[in-house]
Amino acid sequence: MTNKVLILNGPNLNLLGIRQPEHYGSETLADIEAACGARAAGLGLTTDFRQSNTEGEIVDWIQQSRGTCACIILNAGAYTHTSVAILDSLLSCDVPVIEVHLSNIHQREEFRHSSYVSKAARGMICGFGGFGYEMALEAASKIIKET
Ligand code: DQA
Repeated sequence: MTNKVLILNGPNLNLLGIRQPEHYGSETLADIEAACGARAAGLGLTTDFRQSNTEGEIVDWIQQSRGTCACIILNAGAYTHTSVAILDSLLSCDVPVIEVHLSNIHQREEFRHSSYVSKAARGMICGFGGFGYEMALEAASKIIKET
């Protein structure tokens, strides 16, 4: 049984630290990756941390998770609100999914309130900045122990 958690980040998340700090804070994606690595090690998990601006590449990675990953943590960025293709791949991969957003999407514009990812996710963490990824790793650890 694998203990690998696949952490996927969607479009524009490579710009964290520069991009709209009033919503996303000053942490970079590399800072979040390092914090996730440390937290995962403490939980006895390994991480595979990736980012893509391309919908199809994210779909490919989700398809490849079947049988190779114990859990997916996904911040799909703007694709959260638009991508039936990502939803369909999540529904097909047979891997538990935890949805993460840095900002509290429910306090923002109406179009951010709905999430296709949520339809496939065990749960969603939003509004805690990069720390939300560490919370998701704690949840992943519990889910993996229970399965
Ligand atoms: C986001 C929220 C999305 O609405 C937005 O398009 C993002 C980032 C977040 O982490 O808060 O790119 O997923």
